[in-house]
Amino acid sequence: MAMKVIKKIDEMRSAISGIKSRGISIGFVPTMGYLHEGHLSLVRESLRKADVTVVSIFVNPAQFGPREDFKEYPRDLNRDSEVLEREGVDYLFVPESDEIYPQGHKTYIEVYDLQDKLCGRSRPGHFRGVCTVVLKLFNIINPDISFFGQKDAQQAIILKRMVKELNLEVIIKVLPIIREEDGLALSSRNKYLTQEERKAALVLSKSLKVAQSMMEKGQRDSAAIIKEMKEIIGREPLAKIDYVEIVDTDKLNPVAKIEKKALVAMSIFIGKVRLIDNTILCTKE
Ligand code: PAJ
Repeated sequence: MAMKVIKKIDEMRSAISGIKSRGISIGFVPTMGYLHEGHLSLVRESLRKADVTVVSIFVNPAQFGPREDFKEYPRDLNRDSEVLEREGVDYLFVPESDEIYPQGHKTYIEVYDLQDKLCGRSRPGHFRGVCTVVLKLFNIINPDISFFGQKDAQQAIILKRMVKELNLEVIIKVLPIIREEDGLALSSRNKYLTQEERKAALVLSKSLKVAQSMMEKGQRDSAAIIKEMKEIIGREPLAKIDYVEIVDTDKLNPVAKIEKKALVAMSIFIGKVRLIDNTILCTKE
């Protein structure tokens, strides 16, 4: 069956009610488009796990700060829909901003506390925008299962918390970070990097590798690991640290000693481009 591209909320809803009446499962992958292999790993998992796969593309204004890149955010709907059609996606939902946020829209979802940690500190209001749009999309699409990337670790943790605390039925699946061969995590924002910046951007994954290997050698002291990581990043003239932190995966609070597992997360400016990356550090036993 050819992929259906739907723009209107009502139309999406009636397609969904048809699917639901047949009692088959819906997998959902929300995105902001400009798709890469990271997005496609989520799409492919949905195609494997659910009967019908819905992908949304919506560059959500509510999650961008006033000085952020909403206007410049890369968009290529023609290419994206070709790619998704080729993958075998059933529905592509591309709502319009005025319909998602009609004039006078006043309702927002916040996951207190978690939204202010890590990326929340330099992007106030960002997770409020993410939670609001994702809940709206869940309400329209009514998925059984929805797929997110570990690339945005804090986003996944916050959305899981939202689903739990708002008693939603959707299952959230979080899938591994897809990287370029040299280690750079795929991101739609990599497009902004000049050739020189692209090379400099390797400090993110490099420093995470060093953290991993310190951990393997028995280091459990977060401060020592962070110090080493910051030194590596500090040696790259184009890189400026926003944050490098080691936190627990539940409350996102800094941990001093790593017991069992912790999330090492970072946000680094490479020139003007803000990049994020992370990994889970685990003790072996
Ligand atoms: P976007 O940045 O387009 O990402 C869509 C999904 O793809 C997210 O779940 C993200 O974690 C995942 N993803 C991005 N890069 C990845 C990579 N290298 N490996 C694996 N997964 C990756 O995240 C958003 O959009 C928005 O905040 C959204 C959830 C759509 C709400 O607007």
